[in-house]
Amino acid sequence: MSETTIESILQETRLFYPPSEFAQEAEINSLKAYEEHYAEAKADPQAFWAKLAQKELHWFKKWDQVLDWQPPFAKWFVGGKLNISYNCLDRHLTTPRRNKAAIIWEGEPGDSRTLTYAQLHREVCQFANSMKQLGVKKGDRVGIYMPMIPEAAIAMLACARIGAPHSVVFGGFSAEALKDRLEDAQAKLVITADGGFRKDKAVPLKAQVDLALEHGAPTVENVIVVQRTKEPITMVEGRDHWWHDLQKTSSPHCPAEIMDSEDTLFILYTSGSTGKPKGVVHTTGGYNLYTHMTSKWVFDLKETDVYWCTADVGWITGHSYIVYGPLSNGATSLMYEGAPRASNPGCFWDVIEKYGVNIFYTAPTAIRAFIKMGEDIPNARDLSSLRLLGTVGEPINPEAWMWYHRVIGAERCPIVDTWWQTETGGIMVTALPGAIPTKPGSATRPFPGIIVDVVDKQGNPVPDNTGGYLVVKYPWPSMLRTVYGNPERFRKTYWEEIPHIDGQPVYFAGDSVRRDEDGYFWIMGRVDDVMNVAGHRLGSMELESALKSHPGVAESGVIGIPDEIKGEEIVAFVILKNDFSPSDDLVKELKQHVMEEIGAIARPGEIYFTDVLPKTRSGKIVRRFLRQIAAGQEIVGDRSTVEDPTVLDKLEAEIREKH
Ligand code: PRX
Repeated sequence: MSETTIESILQETRLFYPPSEFAQEAEINSLKAYEEHYAEAKADPQAFWAKLAQKELHWFKKWDQVLDWQPPFAKWFVGGKLNISYNCLDRHLTTPRRNKAAIIWEGEPGDSRTLTYAQLHREVCQFANSMKQLGVKKGDRVGIYMPMIPEAAIAMLACARIGAPHSVVFGGFSAEALKDRLEDAQAKLVITADGGFRKDKAVPLKAQVDLALEHGAPTVENVIVVQRTKEPITMVEGRDHWWHDLQKTSSPHCPAEIMDSEDTLFILYTSGSTGKPKGVVHTTGGYNLYTHMTSKWVFDLKETDVYWCTADVGWITGHSYIVYGPLSNGATSLMYEGAPRASNPGCFWDVIEKYGVNIFYTAPTAIRAFIKMGEDIPNARDLSSLRLLGTVGEPINPEAWMWYHRVIGAERCPIVDTWWQTETGGIMVTALPGAIPTKPGSATRPFPGIIVDVVDKQGNPVPDNTGGYLVVKYPWPSMLRTVYGNPERFRKTYWEEIPHIDGQPVYFAGDSVRRDEDGYFWIMGRVDDVMNVAGHRLGSMELESALKSHPGVAESGVIGIPDEIKGEEIVAFVILKNDFSPSDDLVKELKQHVMEEIGAIARPGEIYFTDVLPKTRSGKIVRRFLRQIAAGQEIVGDRSTVEDPTVLDKLEAEIREKH
């Protein structure tokens, strides 16, 4: 096999058709309908998007040109004028949606709030005026560092309304990380809260902002603070303002700024494999259209649905699929402040029962945590309102998919496994739930208008069922426009890794993938997590998935360490389910199990049992630390990427003890 392809050997053959009752009600209601849309879009992507932009969005002025493509820089709907907050709010007010719930919010302590479209519009306008009072203007960058409360969405929409690009920083990031991002974006204003509730604790936020501003970010002139936890905080005279005080004197009338389609809507920072986090830039028109269409077709939104995405607004998923996509469609979007916690591990299921949630979108890591807690917890709640399930963020192992399907979906709900990235702005590869049969572990097929391919490092197509690199061959409306302040990094990271194909540059996603004989995509993991064992390149996800299919394994992290003979040796870190205990026999059994699942080449050289794994705040295992620990090296690199950095020392001590 060529060195530049990636071996993929995990085969999954189960196929689940969309239930006919579901398909009957769906807008894209058969495989044929999907294929027709796909073919139409492929034949003339610009005409396809233009037709939808005309039909689905409100424009103050129509565009002059659909796409201006000067690789790698794309402009969509050139000359078009619109405002995404107008599309998410104002246009619903003259329809029966006026008094429909736009946001249903549940706080961790059990408090709750519902905002209709009319109420949300009013709050957004008022807050837009509050920002104006402080001198914020179109083009100024605004940092948002908030818990999951409605004010987070209000702040984002208000920024969009006045044309001030927001940069949301996840509330779990440290003061240092916040400072770096505010500095890079040169933010003028920060919107925060005293704190938020998470896992039975009041987590301070304003104190972190104070620290960040003590150490840097000199462009920040003002801080607006929402009172949430009522814990004591310091307010700096002249700089810090209470949200509720400003709102008192702000008018609820604020016309939406006329924005150019290519005006920046937001900057969102995401980590790359090297260097500082990148400020991913998204603009207005293309992003509005693409998140609107994907929300509509992937989540099959109906007028009466209660839709819940469990992400945090600090991540792209929260931007696109809690705020902009659902609200542009006039949907009811549920926001939840908390996380499953000791005092209530079943809180998600309580929320579903309480509000009659119909569509539930979460991450595989959450699903695996639920599996570990046991199915009695969800089984004790009424989840019969659910009709559609989704996952995002990482490959879902077939065992977790099956559990989700059986225990949460009662074998009735289609599952959409959605592959995309901060950079893509919206969902790229996914099932359309009334049209595309699903296979556990596969994100299935590209969304209409998305031309993806699997190629080797030289850009040559690879045969079906052979791993390769995922590339996108034609610009799409919500693609990142650049890396903020660093167009060269944008070009190098995404457009130069793979040589031109047919004379055209292609977008390199950084993921390895396999396409099967049915045209289904199986994401294997980040390219940097690929191992080469005795000439075979293996995706770490496949190994982890294989381990997790053993009844004793709750979670696992697999990496390669240097090996004299094989190039790399596979090392697995395994968290066992509660009713299994570590033993030499179990090590043998697991090695045997992986051999059976994948093949002899995938047999791990070492298996370490542990009860913790280093994970980012978004739940991804940080394998580079596992590599260092397994190789007995000193831990180097930015520990703050790990949610709980003490895990690293603990793991290191455990491994040392075993040697
Ligand atoms: O490796 C892929 C993985 O998450 C990466 C993007 O991460 P981020 O920008 O943080 O965005 C996450 C939410 C969209 C991808 O390069 N990933 C995301 N979704 C999936 C996935 N891997 C497999 N299957 C998915 N459904």
